[in-house]
Amino acid sequence: MCGIVGYVGYRPVAELLLEGLHRLEYRGYDSAGIAVQYGNTIEVRKKAGRVSELAGLLKAQPLVGKIGIGHTRWATHGATTDQNSHPHVGGNGEVVIVHNGVIENYDILRRQLQTLGYVFRSQTDTEVVAHLLAHNLEEQTRLHGSPEDLDVCLKAVEVTLNLLKGTYGLGILFRDLPDTVIAARCGSPLVIGVGKDEYFLASDASPLVGYTKEVVYLSDNEVAVLRADALRIDHRSNGSVNVSVKTLEQVASDTDLGQYEHYMLKEIYEQPTTIENALRGRLDNEEATAVIGGLNLSAKDLRRIDRIVLTACGTSWHSGLVGEYVLEEFARMPTEVEYASELRYRNPPMSDRTLVFAITQSGETADTLAAMRECKRKGHPTLAICNVVGSTIAREADGGIYLHAGPEIGVASTKAFTSQVTVLTLLALYLGRMRHMSYPAGKRIIRQLRDMPEKISKALECHDKVREVADKYHHFNNFLYLGRLYNFPVALEGALKLKEISYIHAEGYPAAEMKHGPIALVDQQTPSVFVIPRGGIYPKVVSNMEEIRARRGPVIAIACEGDTDIARIADDVIYVPDVEEYLQPLVCAIPLQLLAYHVALLRGCNVDRPRNLAKSVTVE
Ligand code: AGP
Ligand code: GLU
Repeated sequence: MCGIVGYVGYRPVAELLLEGLHRLEYRGYDSAGIAVQYGNTIEVRKKAGRVSELAGLLKAQPLVGKIGIGHTRWATHGATTDQNSHPHVGGNGEVVIVHNGVIENYDILRRQLQTLGYVFRSQTDTEVVAHLLAHNLEEQTRLHGSPEDLDVCLKAVEVTLNLLKGTYGLGILFRDLPDTVIAARCGSPLVIGVGKDEYFLASDASPLVGYTKEVVYLSDNEVAVLRADALRIDHRSNGSVNVSVKTLEQVASDTDLGQYEHYMLKEIYEQPTTIENALRGRLDNEEATAVIGGLNLSAKDLRRIDRIVLTACGTSWHSGLVGEYVLEEFARMPTEVEYASELRYRNPPMSDRTLVFAITQSGETADTLAAMRECKRKGHPTLAICNVVGSTIAREADGGIYLHAGPEIGVASTKAFTSQVTVLTLLALYLGRMRHMSYPAGKRIIRQLRDMPEKISKALECHDKVREVADKYHHFNNFLYLGRLYNFPVALEGALKLKEISYIHAEGYPAAEMKHGPIALVDQQTPSVFVIPRGGIYPKVVSNMEEIRARRGPVIAIACEGDTDIARIADDVIYVPDVEEYLQPLVCAIPLQLLAYHVALLRGCNVDRPRNLAKSVTVE
């Protein structure tokens, strides 16, 4: 987790780094800091709390210079204090670094460095890297020359990296090496922006927007040297790397709040458009199938596949559950959904006919990346369903499908969920049409998918009712979310949204399974949110609802327009448009996202930056 920025060029760097940190703040917001080099001095300003706190500090104590690095932290080792904030200084100030990741062997390194006389100022794992660099710089200087020599500094970096176990994205300034930022990567993302007489460094492309569209993605085990007039990249074992510059598609307004108060609300309202983007160019009416270009597998390869494994974390895992249902229904394809954090250490039997999909909004989730690599290592074709173009998972996958949902900044995922469900449905249609699905059935699905952007717009009309419901229920401290079949993952997702941003305990459960345990929780103080649109088992879910009512549990229903019967059982009903069962997750997710949003607001929570969380979890 965390965001790194860096710059070398001609612009006043402090303001630039600060702006970059604002844009990366969604990745971590425990503390923020920058280091600026001016001649042979490096000065650091850092502070626990938001980037705005750092901005205040910089106003009082400005920094001047054109070379610098910055960091916004999601703490893994050490409390969220000023001292533990990055950048960290090594030795007597010869080196200053920012770090994203976890140094697993930090404890032993720390003890060794303490024996050598290094004094630690923080509890972080990161500080060992700073002191190790200082120590190795001294060694290399003794052996080979001067700390002003780039090769000496690079040698110190190399020796240091060889000692580290764990993950890192590093931005490094050497005090005596002017006009140079060094970056190194192993497991944590880094992208370099290429300008004219300037280079940028960042954890993702958002700080570069408005400055440059030309980027270079750093790969694992690469070390980059950024100077205003040159960029050099070396692989730690293979030597010099041919720099490959890619062009960014993102436009600046994607990351602006516009008329909205919060990113989460903006992103909820973007869903008619993001679903349209997920569908654009992917519906083939003639052949009654989906057009999916990037799988890099021939029709013959795909027909050979007899099992799909979907792996993901959090919300993306929930969309995978919807994917399981729709892939099994449309394509008759045995599908399993695995938590990436489990799959990476499990060794389930998987034949060479198993196709793996990693589902991820950010494309940087460490657990998902590790699970994907494990599957690749075992020879399975491994694809990605991903939002962030150029992210590590997107680049390492054998192929995949982009969501094209635009940047998702709110920590609570909303539009990525509905886009993932849309893309998984397209995949199911595509594989289904290769197998058992008839032409008319394919046609019907295409028609229904085409209507979805409009149905989502209609679903958003529930907003006023949701506000009312939030007002009535926001003081309750326990919620159940219940749904069946396609709406069971929606119940899980609704509960996760509430937990994440309002810190209310919420359990998602299959509605019928509730009587095997969680019903013991039901009383007048425990509302149940039923996701109960029309469908084959509607009467069964109504019975489950009655069971809750009989125990005096308050009931909120998410139901189809025109379902007046449900209003006789439920205390409150939020209506969504009537759609086919397999599309219900798309419309039913909307009121649950809005409900979590309003409850969180009413409880005074920070909707876009919930406590303890960060947008992409790039640590294990
Ligand atoms: C969603 O609201 C969460 N913040 C979280 O569960 C998230 O979905 C998970 O960390 C996976 O992220 P990814 O899709 O970027 O891989
Ligand atoms: N492990 C480091 C720390 O706790 C870096 C965490 C991060 O990636 O923000 O400070």
